[in-house]
Amino acid sequence: MLVQEIIRTKREGHALDEAQIQHFVRGLVDGSWSEGQVAALGMAIFLRGMNREEAVALTRAMMHSGRVLAWPDMPGPVLDKHSSGGVGDKLSLMLAPLVAACGGYVPMIAGRGLGHTGGTVDKLEAIPGYNTAPANPDFDRIVRTLGCAIIGQTGDLAPADKRFYATRDVTATVESVPLITASILSKKLAAGLQGLAMDIKCGNGAFAATPAFGEELARSIVEVAQGAGLRTHALITDMNQVLGGEIGNALEVQGALDYLTGRVPRDPRTHELTLALAAEMLLMGGLVPDLTAARERLQAALDSGAAAERFGRMVAALGGPTDLVENAQQYLPVAPVVRPVPALRAGRLTAMQTRDIGLIIVELGGGRRLPGDVLDMRVGFNGMRQLGDVLAAGEPLAFVHAATEAAAESAAARLQAAVTISDAAAPWSPSPLVMGRLV
Ligand code: URA
Repeated sequence: MLVQEIIRTKREGHALDEAQIQHFVRGLVDGSWSEGQVAALGMAIFLRGMNREEAVALTRAMMHSGRVLAWPDMPGPVLDKHSSGGVGDKLSLMLAPLVAACGGYVPMIAGRGLGHTGGTVDKLEAIPGYNTAPANPDFDRIVRTLGCAIIGQTGDLAPADKRFYATRDVTATVESVPLITASILSKKLAAGLQGLAMDIKCGNGAFAATPAFGEELARSIVEVAQGAGLRTHALITDMNQVLGGEIGNALEVQGALDYLTGRVPRDPRTHELTLALAAEMLLMGGLVPDLTAARERLQAALDSGAAAERFGRMVAALGGPTDLVENAQQYLPVAPVVRPVPALRAGRLTAMQTRDIGLIIVELGGGRRLPGDVLDMRVGFNGMRQLGDVLAAGEPLAFVHAATEAAAESAAARLQAAVTISDAAAPWSPSPLVMGRLV
């Protein structure tokens, strides 16, 4: 089978058969497809699409490109959540310990930043010593004993996706329903889960920019997952603004710790979404009779400190500091330059170009331009104001954390340009956070 003929078939808009898809996936793993050929097929799929059978075949082939985990004899349900990618979305850091504290087992195999979005693994690597690539028996043991472990994609788990993901990241081929479906589900099916909560982000900071794209992606993921025997609930959620006050790797870890401990008032949107997704996980796991009972149990695990404690134990078990929860400021890296970003006029914050804000983080060094780039964990924004907030002229929109004065200045100007401040008296109403639910 000639690689260029497979690419040509898709370029001409025809469906690929299972053998062609398997050839591609094998080539991703054994290197027999060159980087140019992988990128070309990625772009052809991006432009021409795939039907459901092709998406299923791609998902299956990528799932079986490496090891498939199993969790025999677990004392509780094996659950996970995955997001299709957002800006400031640090929910995985809170959800895994929170669900573990409620009786679930969460072997979370998370991703790195993709395009303008942040990645959970990158965030965790801001914690000194935290090992996102433990040996398999250690991963297994930590999940069994603590109820959760968040790690990176190991070389042997869906390795085809690992390579394809990195290529898509730098070739503008992320925003494709079949490619996102296969990428996410190959990893989740290989992780041996019993239930998956999907957060399908929708809006100007998401890969699914429109509600129609969000619904199509949610339907594709739920159908392909259920078809493969993985119980999946999807929430379509608003990503027309940064989620919570922090963006950037170390700053988001701090945000997650603040959330778990309740040291500062919890951002209402972050709290609402955390509870909504975690409740779906508890429900799928049979740990609660309904969503109302789930929320009560989750709130209790936050209030008692059980979720924060679980996070601390997971960090320590994976090589991080034993007192991160209590003394994060001693460990998380801090940028040398921290400056307020003043609002250019008085009024109400009514819109954010969320994707642009994600790209500012990449330019500050907090995300990648090329697959091998080393990240600056210190940079980003915190104290970010939310849509609907009323600001005085000159009041901080956020605080920028940067490596140099020049980088801070440029990021501040770009943030000012990425937000819309309207007259405070003009009518404005918030859009719903959870826009849809598919089960
Ligand atoms: N998250 C993934 O794991 N893969 C994608 O393609 C997009 C978001």
